[in-house]
Amino acid sequence: MTETKQMVEEMKGWIYAAAERIKMSLKNEQLEIETKSNRTDLVTDMDKDTQNFLSKKILAFDPTAKIMGEENGKDHLADLSGRVFIIDPIDGTMNFVLEAENFCIMMALYEDGIGKLGFVYDVMKDEFLYGGPAYGVYCNGEPVSLPENKSLDQGLVGLNHVMYRKDDYHVQAIGEIAMGVRMSGCAGYELINLAMGRRVAYISRLAPWDYAPGGVLIEALGLKMSNITGAKLQLADREVFLAGTVAAYEACLQLANS
Ligand code: IPD
Ligand code: CA
Ligand code: CA
Repeated sequence: MTETKQMVEEMKGWIYAAAERIKMSLKNEQLEIETKSNRTDLVTDMDKDTQNFLSKKILAFDPTAKIMGEENGKDHLADLSGRVFIIDPIDGTMNFVLEAENFCIMMALYEDGIGKLGFVYDVMKDEFLYGGPAYGVYCNGEPVSLPENKSLDQGLVGLNHVMYRKDDYHVQAIGEIAMGVRMSGCAGYELINLAMGRRVAYISRLAPWDYAPGGVLIEALGLKMSNITGAKLQLADREVFLAGTVAAYEACLQLANS
């Protein structure tokens, strides 16, 4: 087995194990829910527990690895040199709490600032997108190829609901041109949909752990992503994120900055 294949299998194993724990918690436990920056910014004991679980697996595998994760005070990493794992233990915590579905476990592996592997697992749908530029992209074991280069008016756009309500970056006009707008509240779900050709674009205000795992995958496929002004994403603070088919990405970029 090549080193990359071994790494992919290893990381998939950690994520499947984490997913089992999360599903058990939904059956058997009362979630402990807290708020962070505001009343809709939720964190549960399972977000923290899952990040700890994955971090332990990472450090047992490579004690020198660096970890950036949304929870447990690990959300900043100044130095991205070497092997860096980026974790969003539960992406879509609001959905996890209120819907018990439409949430993902997500992880990325970066080496010296370059995205090598990405993993986005929609736990309840059991849809797992993973891979990277040197490995290829797979969904539940099946190879995924670049979706058709549909234009903005040929498909659905995923949007952040606050941006849509406030019409940031002319997203309402973008939505008018598209076949429709979807606001799932889960970046991972949107990026799986984009990779699988079920969206033509996705725009949201995201942190590195929201976009890095899916970002590695969509770029490996040949889809486009950047911040909303077209600049490279920095893996640092929250940025307005844009991704899409080449055609829809270009159209959104132009409309957003007009
Ligand atoms: C959130 C989701 C949501 C996006 C937010 C993220 P979380 O992640 O991905 O779709 O609009 O900006 O914070 O907090 O549930 O992991
Ligand atoms: Ca997230
Ligand atoms: Ca999260």
